[in-house]
Amino acid sequence: MKYGFFDDNNKEYVITTPKTPLPWINYLGCTDFFSLISNTCGGYTFYKDAKLLRMTRYRYNDTTLDTNGKYFYIKDGDTIWNPGWQPTKTPLDSYECRHGIGYSKFTGVKNDVEAALVTFVPIGDPVELTKVTLTNKGTAKKDIQLFSYVEWCLWNADDDMKNYQRNLSIGEVEVVDSTIYHKTEYRERRNHYAVYSVNAKIDGFETSRDEFRGAYNGPDKPDAVIEGKLHNTIASGWYPIASHQLNVSLAPGESKTFVFALGYVENAEDDKWEKPGIINKKKANELLAKYQTEADFDEAFEKLNAYWNDLLSKFHIESKDEHVNRMVNIWNQYQCMVTFNMSRSASYYETGIGRGMGFRDSCQDLLGFVHLIPDRARERIIDIASTQFQDGSAYHQYQPLTKKGNSDIGSGFNDDPLWLIAGTSAYIRETGDTSILKEMVPYDNDMSVATTLMEHLKRSFDYIVNHKGPHDLPLIGRADWNDCLNLNCFSEHPGESFQCFGPSEGPVAESVFIAGMFVKYGREYADLCKLMGDNAEADRALAEVDKMIKAIEKDGWDGEWFVRAYDAYSHKVGSKECDEGQIYIEPQGMCVMAGVGVDDGNAVKALDSVKEKLDTKYGVMILQPAYTRYHLELGEISSYPPGYKENAGIFCHNNPWISIAETCIGRGDRAFEVYKKTCPSYIEDISEIHRTEPYVYSQMVAGADAKFHGEAKNSWLTGTAAWTFTNISQYILGIYPTLEGLSVNPCTPAEFGDFNVTRVYRGVTYNIEIKNPNKVQKGVASLLVDGKEVEGNIIPFDGSKKTVSVVATMK
Ligand code: BGC
Ligand code: NOJ
Repeated sequence: MKYGFFDDNNKEYVITTPKTPLPWINYLGCTDFFSLISNTCGGYTFYKDAKLLRMTRYRYNDTTLDTNGKYFYIKDGDTIWNPGWQPTKTPLDSYECRHGIGYSKFTGVKNDVEAALVTFVPIGDPVELTKVTLTNKGTAKKDIQLFSYVEWCLWNADDDMKNYQRNLSIGEVEVVDSTIYHKTEYRERRNHYAVYSVNAKIDGFETSRDEFRGAYNGPDKPDAVIEGKLHNTIASGWYPIASHQLNVSLAPGESKTFVFALGYVENAEDDKWEKPGIINKKKANELLAKYQTEADFDEAFEKLNAYWNDLLSKFHIESKDEHVNRMVNIWNQYQCMVTFNMSRSASYYETGIGRGMGFRDSCQDLLGFVHLIPDRARERIIDIASTQFQDGSAYHQYQPLTKKGNSDIGSGFNDDPLWLIAGTSAYIRETGDTSILKEMVPYDNDMSVATTLMEHLKRSFDYIVNHKGPHDLPLIGRADWNDCLNLNCFSEHPGESFQCFGPSEGPVAESVFIAGMFVKYGREYADLCKLMGDNAEADRALAEVDKMIKAIEKDGWDGEWFVRAYDAYSHKVGSKECDEGQIYIEPQGMCVMAGVGVDDGNAVKALDSVKEKLDTKYGVMILQPAYTRYHLELGEISSYPPGYKENAGIFCHNNPWISIAETCIGRGDRAFEVYKKTCPSYIEDISEIHRTEPYVYSQMVAGADAKFHGEAKNSWLTGTAAWTFTNISQYILGIYPTLEGLSVNPCTPAEFGDFNVTRVYRGVTYNIEIKNPNKVQKGVASLLVDGKEVEGNIIPFDGSKKTVSVVATMK
């Protein structure tokens, strides 16, 4: 069942009922200022950091789903309603939400009044704009009132939900003309405030939530809206809000349009006040002045669309598969931008106060983002590396505003260092910009101990070399990619964090997954060494990689698949010897992607085992059999009910690893089969089972052991976005950036047919035509570059050309 449809021409998903199984959201904002917005106008806004600079409130755990947002109420006689349906939930005569690329549109109709909203964050300004167009569709005159509504968050979203003894006394606002200024704490250490304004003369305002709603009412029955009159209260403490009232008369057929602006303003320390106690509004007024007319709004909207059209033109496919075209050209790349911006901080499943930027997460997000805006990727790599410790280990997370590592989670996740190599290598393969390797980058933000980025990568590599266990496999530390495999934790009491409890390091617990990563990214490190002319270091690295391959072959192979780990007793995890958790997905994907077992047949065996033991119709599960009891020596993984999350859920993030691994052994049919199972567009018509947004990936789909097999959770912020884009663009479609240039080596289903890709790479546009006359799954027989035959798969890079035509014919 569907709740809408894709409108590919407009790059939109059109939701045709407000009653989607879960709120279906979108993100507004490209750089610093962001909003989450659901299909019923729920959501919230923040500047740079969802924890520290939260502008509007949201309640994650409320009794009805998705109850706070930036709302517009309409009072038409005795009827009050919202164009996005929530919060009054007054049945609408018609409803539509269009989530587009960086904007959302809503159209609600009730009793002959149509309210159309368009909302987005313009490029370059910290402001969310909403155009509200009211139209009288009937034959009689309409006298209605429009009310805006936002509830301010007192900036620190964490404190905002906890520290009421203080918070209920600190709220402060000012109102001048049509602009409401939220200035809580501005008097002290803050130099920023928020504004909410409309480009018309208002008929009233409200800044006190109790006055607006009535203390005991929900947002669905606000007293002031029912009364049809705001009371112009200046809030003092309690719950500050911003609401404007506009009385609107509409002749039959007449439309009126208003532009609302919700902005963030920062003043210089010595320029904070207009007069004692009154904030300096100069910068706010300058910001608002830019968006005073409908024409200003439309122009900024056009700029946003042009910006995105340009970004999305960097990789474009035309094939006969509409799902692939749609996901690759629009939604998968869009989700990559969102995950790059948010890491795992703010979604409808991540509160924005728990996690900031994840070290491993952000490094992996780069893989799907770097082709879009390489400069921002560069900056991000430096930020991430700056949180590395001198021994090569890393803070697991850092806060985007301060860019400092989060001490409460600390370090000890032993896969983290290698992801820095992965991200940096992707950046250099994309851009050819080796200058980044010579940048001086601090450790733990301490510039006095800074070294080159190249030295950071060396320390990442050596961290693994220097932290091995009894099987010469890497020590796992607190956990590896699988945050829930806590082999040194031994937590026996609730309240202990699985990820932080116990020693960060044990002497014997080892990870075969990190071993596979070391082979893959150790080789990429060696390639970078060679590129920089350091052949001795490259040779040393490759010798270490060889040792690791031997260790995997000796103790990391279980007969039919790769072992997952060794626990603190040196017992195998993910082996046929185990009673539960006999096979895990991660080492099968990572080791084969690294090339381990490709020559001796073990890769085929491992992937066949994955298909036999882990596959379901909704995707490949992370492990089997599920843990049915808590295993003290394994940690959080065994704390989840069978079939959910890391305990045998379908963890979408590592499904592309399996798909990529399949391309490494040339099985395009199977690679694509795995791709399709979790691909949002392919499963749109089971939205009632899948439940999350059909245009983006979710982190997890419940596995076969779960009650709700096939149901997804944690949409949007997942490494699945970057890895899937990497899989489909670089491995299945086979356009892979190497250090020397683009390589063309598709691995598609036999029936996939010919296809064309446009790829902008290092400033050159490649128009690549791929022909598959013999319906093979892999192998390029000939590569013509601007009409000339080229040996091998790599298009020699020539920066003097603007465009290059390539014809690749498969065998
Ligand atoms: C989740 C993991 C996540 C971790 C983050 C766990 O509860 O299951 O998916 O990575 O928390 O700390
Ligand atoms: C989600 C986390 O963000 C990611 O870092 C981790 O690898 C996966 N969960 C698996 O545990």
